[in-house]
Amino acid sequence: MNAPTQSVIARFLGRLATPRLFLIAATLLGLDLAWQKHGSKPWKDNPNEASVSSPSSFSWPTESQETTHLSVVDEMRNAVSMTYTLEYGYGSRIVVPGAGFLLNNEMGDVNSAPEMTDERGNIGTRPNLALPGKRMLSSMSPTILARDGKLFMVTGSPGGRTIINTVLMTILNVVDFGMNAQEAVDAGRIHHQWLPDRINYERYGFSADTIARLRAMGHTVNEQGGQGVADVIVVGSDGVLEGGLDRRAPDGGAAGK
Ligand code: DON
Repeated sequence: MNAPTQSVIARFLGRLATPRLFLIAATLLGLDLAWQKHGSKPWKDNPNEASVSSPSSFSWPTESQETTHLSVVDEMRNAVSMTYTLEYGYGSRIVVPGAGFLLNNEMGDVNSAPEMTDERGNIGTRPNLALPGKRMLSSMSPTILARDGKLFMVTGSPGGRTIINTVLMTILNVVDFGMNAQEAVDAGRIHHQWLPDRINYERYGFSADTIARLRAMGHTVNEQGGQGVADVIVVGSDGVLEGGLDRRAPDGGAAGK
């Protein structure tokens, strides 16, 4: 097998092992139904018969490897903001008997040892140590905003520790900078989490002048790829719902009726 073919197959298997794909397949549709929907199956119906491995015999799954966020508003202006995660592929690898869904694995979100603060951003404070009966910290920030008692905005994103910044920026972009939902999602994002002491900024998200000014202020700046996948709904001044589709991920979508 040549290297490009191996690479394609490795990427495919990696995607097959994604938390979201598995969760949806296991809980909502079942693996077989999910693959009927997405195209050709990566396995044969007969487990005793070898399948042919070929990059041309499957279609790409439409799910990404990300933790997932959904923003929903119905015609009665009920709103749902939901971020869910299995964390690693297949989460804890434990399926709830009789229920058919996986349990997640958030152990990476507890502090590994007291006082063990390091440059990678692991912080050794005692409140977040792994102890019986405790729940680890989470950056997940599913958010519903109301204005004058009425629904105004729904937002949220995957992205680990960058989530809080991503969500806040979508809100600031709409509330303080007057952007519509799509503009708020499209705008460049930055992230600083105290440790490491640097600003990560999205490539093409900011002008060279802005970056130079941040450097001149003494910031260490670091260019990176996309940050988060914010799915945003804003209730416009005319009452019409605006959906903000985050094009940083290939598998999102905004839909209404
Ligand atoms: O709860 C948290 O903050 C993390 N376990 C979320 C993980 C995450 O967003 C990974 N996504 N890209």
